[in-house]
Amino acid sequence: MTSMSTASTPAFGLGDYVRAIEAVLARRPANPIIIREVSLATKRLVADDRWLEERFRQGSPDCYTRHLLHRDAQNRFVVLALVWQPGQMTPIHDHSCWGVMGMIQNSLEEVCFDRLDDGTRPDFAELQQSRVTDVSGGSVAYLLPPFEEIHRIGNTSERPTISLHVYGRDLDEVNVFDQVTGKVSPMRIKYYSPVCGEQPFVI
Ligand SMILES: [Fe+2]
Repeated sequence: MTSMSTASTPAFGLGDYVRAIEAVLARRPANPIIIREVSLATKRLVADDRWLEERFRQGSPDCYTRHLLHRDAQNRFVVLALVWQPGQMTPIHDHSCWGVMGMIQNSLEEVCFDRLDDGTRPDFAELQQSRVTDVSGGSVAYLLPPFEEIHRIGNTSERPTISLHVYGRDLDEVNVFDQVTGKVSPMRIKYYSPVCGEQPFVI
């Protein structure tokens, strides 16, 4: 959302956002409290997106694009901007950490899944779709392990989407789920992609 003001510096920018998250994590609160407070900061950050540079708004026709915006020096969290062309979508995946997603531009559809098996087989999961949410405007979505963290997100609209993501670990590998066969596969991911690489990027 672009303000009518000619001022180029928003009241709450990426640096403010990072410092707000650092302040929350310094208190070492439980994950639900992290989610609540980071969600509030995320809504504030995406309300005025002038802080996001043009180079982090570039997408790709091949797959959604991940731009690393900040990586905590202590590896407690990472902040990314993702650019989605119409139709671009993740596979079903998990995170094994807390996370918050907000919308900088347009919207994303999030499909969440419950795990019905007991998790004792590392390569198998029985999933059941639980809810479908359209995340748009000032709304945010969150990940809260162990029960609320398996999902698929994608741009089901006709316009490009830019989303803001923060994750509670230095995310380099996630699990990908095949809902039909139940197979669980670890997938290594990369931090950012001006041009997408050989394997899908997962958020
Ligand atoms: Fe995700």
